[in-house]
Amino acid sequence: MRLNEEQREILDGKKGGILQEALRGLIKYGTAMGAEDFIPISSAHTAFSAMDVVALAFPPRGVQLTKQDIDKFSQEIANTQVRVKTTVNPAIIDRKKWQQMGADEATYNSVMRTVDIARKCGIMMTFSCIPYLTDNIPLMGEHCAWAESSAHLYINSFLGARSNRDSYETSLYSALLGITPDFGLHLDRNRKGTDLIDIQCKLESISDWGALGYFTGDRVGLGIPVFKNLRRPTAKEAVQLTATCNSPGGIPMLLLPEVSPEAPTIDAAFKGNIPRNTYVFDEPAKRKVYQYLNHQPEGRVDLVFLGCPHKTLCEIEEISRMLEGRHVAKDARLWIETSSSIRASAEQLGYAEVIEASGGELLADGCVLLYYVNAPAKRPKMDRVASDSAKQAFGIRRSFHSNIFVGDMERCLEIAIKGGI
Ligand code: F3S
Repeated sequence: MRLNEEQREILDGKKGGILQEALRGLIKYGTAMGAEDFIPISSAHTAFSAMDVVALAFPPRGVQLTKQDIDKFSQEIANTQVRVKTTVNPAIIDRKKWQQMGADEATYNSVMRTVDIARKCGIMMTFSCIPYLTDNIPLMGEHCAWAESSAHLYINSFLGARSNRDSYETSLYSALLGITPDFGLHLDRNRKGTDLIDIQCKLESISDWGALGYFTGDRVGLGIPVFKNLRRPTAKEAVQLTATCNSPGGIPMLLLPEVSPEAPTIDAAFKGNIPRNTYVFDEPAKRKVYQYLNHQPEGRVDLVFLGCPHKTLCEIEEISRMLEGRHVAKDARLWIETSSSIRASAEQLGYAEVIEASGGELLADGCVLLYYVNAPAKRPKMDRVASDSAKQAFGIRRSFHSNIFVGDMERCLEIAIKGGI
């Protein structure tokens, strides 16, 4: 790959080991993907939840790191500043309610130490999987290096910003260097439709948009779907659509005519491409997705989970209205996940109080799936789960073999109050 003078100095190690390794990593990434140049980026979204995990992105790889190795690495990275605005995906705990979630003190201390190092490094520890609605909002044409399968998809599809689906490692390298290899969705020629999705049924609830996302990812795989006969989504419907596509798929971008900035019409979305396939999403197709995602849901429920991706303040307001004066069943748990900044607003506005008075928990900064995959020892009972998120349902079912109900947020709240279906 072509390097400028500064990059050659970095590669020679003149600006420290961390930057040298970050550039080596990006050169490998770009070379593998056929890029010849780097381009500047305006922002990165990465993960930075525990130093032992972050350290694995840098050599020596594949060896057991000692505490001394991790301390040395932490000191080095704390002295290196990111070059662009950098936000992070959810961590593995709620920093305020970690004990209620069953996390142990060692995990809490490790996250807090990581937060401190990240702050020194200039990383904004937002712990949110909807940064594009809150803290990190790129505009049309901005080049970014974003990880998180739903977030990069949202900014490409609905904001017209440009990011490949970067890994946590490459997005961190890009954050430190302010560049990314120029390939894939950074190039005009790759931002066009490959497959057509013809909508022949009504989408009535948020979970219906999740079902459509699941269907789309499953059918289109790695292509770019263009939608026909799809009504204009609200922002929260768009969030659910993008969140679910990449549970079964690896879709880089969606094109919704008259909604996506780069798709004023269906023809413009395809830019001359002939669709490889047309898939029809009708009532039977929608039913099939629900049948697949719902797995023996009848009976009592252990956990009702809302907030994948994280709930916005508007959604939390809606939830608090629905829960006002009502109570979650004795043996059920209701968890609503968001970020700390949104929870702080919900606390100020009184929504958090209503939710907690009903027996629900407004959790922040985490992700049920990430937490319980990483720390299974303290996992509370979750044999029977209800969620309004097809993405979370897919992940929970795959990881824990739980029985699952997926449906509207309203229905999920009723299940929490009744204690089951
Ligand atoms: Fe966010 Fe976790 Fe869902 S990171 S999108 S809540 S799987």
